[in-house]
Amino acid sequence: MTFFAYHAGELYAEQVPLSRVAQQVGTPAYVYSRAAIENQWRALDDAFGDYPHTICYAVKANSNIAILNLLARLGSGFDIVSEGELRRVLAAGGDPSKVVYSGVAKSVHELEFALKSNVRSINIESVAELHRLQAVAASLGVTASIAIRVNPDVDPETHPYISTGMEKAKFGVTMEAAFEAYKLAHTMPNIEVHGIACHIGSQITKTSPFTDALEIVLNMVKRLAQAGIQIQQLDLGGGLGINYQGETPPAADEYVQAMIAGVAAHGIDLPIAIEPGRYIAGNSGVMLTTVEYTKHNTSKNFAIVDAGMNDLMRPALYQAHHEIIPVRTDSSAEPVSYDVVGPVCESADVLGYERELALQSGDLLAVCSAGAYSFAMSNNYNSRTRPPEVMVDGDQIHVIRRRETFDQLIQGERQLPD
Ligand code: LLP
Repeated sequence: MTFFAYHAGELYAEQVPLSRVAQQVGTPAYVYSRAAIENQWRALDDAFGDYPHTICYAVKANSNIAILNLLARLGSGFDIVSEGELRRVLAAGGDPSKVVYSGVAKSVHELEFALKSNVRSINIESVAELHRLQAVAASLGVTASIAIRVNPDVDPETHPYISTGMEKAKFGVTMEAAFEAYKLAHTMPNIEVHGIACHIGSQITKTSPFTDALEIVLNMVKRLAQAGIQIQQLDLGGGLGINYQGETPPAADEYVQAMIAGVAAHGIDLPIAIEPGRYIAGNSGVMLTTVEYTKHNTSKNFAIVDAGMNDLMRPALYQAHHEIIPVRTDSSAEPVSYDVVGPVCESADVLGYERELALQSGDLLAVCSAGAYSFAMSNNYNSRTRPPEVMVDGDQIHVIRRRETFDQLIQGERQLPD
């Protein structure tokens, strides 16, 4: 089901015409659909049926506290990678006992904060981190519940920048080292081995990389059991892809059933956690932008818009494709092949190459699939203030983040004394 659709020639989010959002908050602006987000979360939750599971939404995909709060209300857990993300989850009413904490560089302070917050699992990414955690837990007089994030060396067949589970990646602990790390963890007085974790990459559009990684994880679970170490939870990471440009990733049901079947085939009966980010947020949002100018060179036509790579960096960073569609379809202009470019002083500031669009100055465009890794990766390059975020709920418009102001932009800066 799509929650962004045309009615009478105008693009809507649920029951709200996007031109109304633009009128209210200006552009560029991010617009999300509450129903879309909830629908995606429920699709995964329903797919598990009665099977014991926790959906730990990957906060990094879109960390607005309104979104975290909606998911917390559904009973979601969260996958975090920093103290900041944990603070957001707590501020949004999330349950720390459903939080898993990933990340390769957790500081002493971050580990302390996570332990004091009673997160479910700290997902250890190196032996050095394990030693640090033991020391921190001992100093606080608590026991740390951990998983080791193993690196199964599986090719997720996605963009190299978002592939994390191969041996040359900085993430996780290789399988042989992980076995030794578990044995070490088992002897540590302030560490309790809780689970095993694995995340191989993002925007994965086939089931096989997931099931290949699962096999490796399950073999490790059995090997650990033989060594007297009982795993209590399988954390299978995130990574389920979405449709940006005709990709056909597995449906929630297919993906979840493949996991459950893989586990059952080994005669293993353990709760599963997953860490989806993009699947929940990606197609639940668009970025609205206005055409400032059109410009026609001998070999190129440019649609110069008011949103740039600082607002949505995926095309510049990963050559990612985002569909760009008009908010109104009644333009009298001729369709022309445009490069849709932003205001930032970089040649990479392109939101989309060679897009057939009928437009003129002042027209509104929607950049699609902009709910995940979009606002979350925005920045202030060229001293541009970051856009507002809006949540549409039925016929209601909620501003869930105001447009940044110039005062906010410079608030931490100080000039030298005379
Ligand atoms: N768990 C861990 C440990 C992760 O590192 C990630 C994403 C996820 C879960 C969520 O993955 P998802 O379900 O969203 O695929 N900025 C890139 C994506 C980076 C993903 C990083 N890790 C992009 O815009 O495509």
